[in-house]
Amino acid sequence: MDSFLIKGGIPLQGEVTISGSKNAALPLMAAALLTADTCTLRRVPDLSDTRFMLRILESLGAETRFENGTVTIRAASLRGFGDYDLIRKMRGSICILGPLLARLKEATVSLPGGCIIGTRPIDLHLKGLAALGGRIEIEGGYVKAKAKKLEGNTIFLGGRAGPTVLGTANILMAAALAEGVTVIESAACEPEVTDVAHFLIGMGAKIQGLGSPTLTITGVRELHGTDHEVIPDRIEACTFLCAAAATKGDVLVHGAKPEHFGAVSDKLQEAGVQLKREGASLRVSRSGRLKPTDITTLPYAGFPTDVQAQFIALLCQAHGTSVVTERIFESRFMHVAELMRMGAEIAIEGPSAIIKGGRPLSGAPVMASDLRASAALVIAGLAAEGETMVNRIYHLDRGYERMESKLQALGANIQRVEGE
Ligand code: EPZ
Repeated sequence: MDSFLIKGGIPLQGEVTISGSKNAALPLMAAALLTADTCTLRRVPDLSDTRFMLRILESLGAETRFENGTVTIRAASLRGFGDYDLIRKMRGSICILGPLLARLKEATVSLPGGCIIGTRPIDLHLKGLAALGGRIEIEGGYVKAKAKKLEGNTIFLGGRAGPTVLGTANILMAAALAEGVTVIESAACEPEVTDVAHFLIGMGAKIQGLGSPTLTITGVRELHGTDHEVIPDRIEACTFLCAAAATKGDVLVHGAKPEHFGAVSDKLQEAGVQLKREGASLRVSRSGRLKPTDITTLPYAGFPTDVQAQFIALLCQAHGTSVVTERIFESRFMHVAELMRMGAEIAIEGPSAIIKGGRPLSGAPVMASDLRASAALVIAGLAAEGETMVNRIYHLDRGYERMESKLQALGANIQRVEGE
């Protein structure tokens, strides 16, 4: 397993370009199953997760190509039974269920397990598909869904932690081919869901209420191929903002959509980080001390759970006490123990991390436990004095395109150490 060796203490300086969004690309690829025509997706990040999704689509009978950031998918013939092990390994694969059921009226998909950040149930996905007429059974580790036909309905998709991102995408995709009108109430408003809606509209779907908690879908008989550019990855952009701020750097970020991460920009500014629009780009810099700040993760447009870990790494540098409360996933603090190895003073109290910041971090060997936790450890390593070895970075490779070369171009001393 590969690791990153980081020699910290160098302010990041220069320019970086943000890749396409992983969390948009995954459901977008699944949406291509809704038609027998060819769909083209541009600006797809080259990641182990996107490559994995293509393998899943191929295991269902689709023909795929991935070249220079452009993916083409042609699902002319399709089977409704996915490879158990492939699907089980990636939670994002649950969003093939809606398209398969809509197109074939039958789908058997392995049940995705929990993961390190929480139990991650799929009850809302199943509730939504059942409301459209799907008969769902869980058997032998599989979700088996069948329907004579799908019919529009009004579906409330809010759960105990608010709306569901992939659940909304799943029902949106299924409803696009259902008979009649579907109204999704308490729909997720994340830009990735809106991107899926734009793609579906490009395929001929009729959807109203984009970006709002009420989506109205008027089903159509058939969808056709289309060509679509994936939105920029707001989580990658925020990760680079945190890294620049943590190292007292000065970085010009290209290709991001700052309107997608207003809550993070607001908190960065509250902490004393400078953000300035320069044409279509965003400059992030810090000269003075960081101030502590309190954060609660929330559904969009609130502070994203996917930036919580990176922000904790940043707040370790802020002089004073910050409180970070995680409201989306119950156990998303695995990075805290690793940051403490580097000298961070953090206590976990229920859903909150209390960070006493301001003491310099010192490099240490640490273990990445999930994608965003890994990004937090990289940020801490870049800011720390001395050497940090971040082990198990395969998590990072799932979601950050060429992270080490982007950081090297900003002056960071970071090397990939290949493991067996
Ligand atoms: C997406 O996961 C993202 N993954 C996650 O990003 C992200 O953290 C999450 O949305 C929240 O923003 C992808 O897009 C591939 P949810 P998703 O359903 O859709 C509960 C990353 O690091 N819930 O919105 O699976 C759930 O337990 C990853 O890039 C139910 O109760 O998340 C959680 O508390 C990690 N029942 C909350 O809803 C359900 O049926 C939000 O989860 C579904 C979810």
